[in-house]
Amino acid sequence: MNAPSAQMVGNKFVTPNWHSDFPILKQKVRGRRLVYLDNGATTQKPLCVIENQNAYYSEHNANIHRGVHWLSQYATDLYDASRDCVQKFINAKSSDEIVFTSGTTQSINLVAYSWGLNNLKKGDEILLTGMEHHSNIVPWQLIAKKTGALIKVVPVTDDGQLDLDEYKKLLSDRTAIVAMVHVSNAIGTVNPIEKMIPMARAVGATVLIDGAQAVAHMNVDVQHLDCDFYVFSGHKLYGPTGVGVLYGKHNILDSMPPWLGGGDMIHTVSFEESTYAPVPQRFEAGTPNIAGVTGLKAAINYVNTIGLDVIQAYEEELLTYANNELLSIPGLKIIAEAAPRAGIISFVMDGIHPHDLGTILDTDGVAIRAGHHCAMPLMTRFGIPGTARASLALYNTQDDVIALVNSLRKAQDLFGVTGSK
Ligand code: ALA
Repeated sequence: MNAPSAQMVGNKFVTPNWHSDFPILKQKVRGRRLVYLDNGATTQKPLCVIENQNAYYSEHNANIHRGVHWLSQYATDLYDASRDCVQKFINAKSSDEIVFTSGTTQSINLVAYSWGLNNLKKGDEILLTGMEHHSNIVPWQLIAKKTGALIKVVPVTDDGQLDLDEYKKLLSDRTAIVAMVHVSNAIGTVNPIEKMIPMARAVGATVLIDGAQAVAHMNVDVQHLDCDFYVFSGHKLYGPTGVGVLYGKHNILDSMPPWLGGGDMIHTVSFEESTYAPVPQRFEAGTPNIAGVTGLKAAINYVNTIGLDVIQAYEEELLTYANNELLSIPGLKIIAEAAPRAGIISFVMDGIHPHDLGTILDTDGVAIRAGHHCAMPLMTRFGIPGTARASLALYNTQDDVIALVNSLRKAQDLFGVTGSK
């Protein structure tokens, strides 16, 4: 375990210089330094990922698994090497357990349509949680309608955590699948999936974990977790957009029929019948996002060079610092403040709508997300239309937090909200 790379010296963080790896952060926005705190939506890309994409299209571009020519074989090797890289990154047993998709949303839809349509029946229960992103709700609603399965929901406590007593009560031999988020994109809560997965297993349920907001902030070991599926996106992990991962245990993936049909996923095709390729190719119909997949490897290599344990320790310190600074603003309430959180501070402010906050902060070059964060049921649970969300990445610094706080105080002044210190 490496030592954390940030420490307080007096009242100043000594921060690593990781932000210099990200060219976009050097630019000014509206004449101000860009303070990018919308990493939950997408992270910026280090130069090595940008150069990888340039090199791919300048030197390596060809279609994969199809050509006898040198360039096609080279591109195929690059693509397959990325699969091995992802396998090691999440400690899957085999690279066959890694399916490349366009992102988390597609990964969940793949499981819902391929596994769900073929395994769920009337009366089966799909157990979700009250803090799911719409992408882990809507696909299951579509499949529930087709199969007659029922959706049940683990409630969220007032302090923004899953109610584990209720979770225990909801689990039964009717629970066919538990599909839950590892880290909430809306409020940042880190769910105790190490504890929750064995509970689901004990009733024989299949388990899918949405790791979109987790993989950039902490080590994930799918063998240790013992989940059936783990899904995430490349673009929230410093990689390109349009590439994602579905991890599935080999036996379960192997039991699943294709979802999308087309080239590269077949064994034989005739007009009477087709037979299908083994996994993971069975689930990668058509020309995949080859460039994106190679860029994902570059991103993972970047993260590995620093070390997720180092990143996690740094971000935890920055989150604590940001938390305390934000709480010094009168009228500001952090949602899920007492919960274990990773990378995200979601808050509301008396007298100012989150969208107005987002717009005012933007005039200072401070980028946050405001709204329901594609988690409308969670907002309803807290009785709010939305929140303002600052989400951190490894390149954020104490100066970014100071800029955020100054801009929030300015918003209070503009709105004539009293109490600003
Ligand atoms: N799901 C992404 C977010 O939380 C887009 O912002």
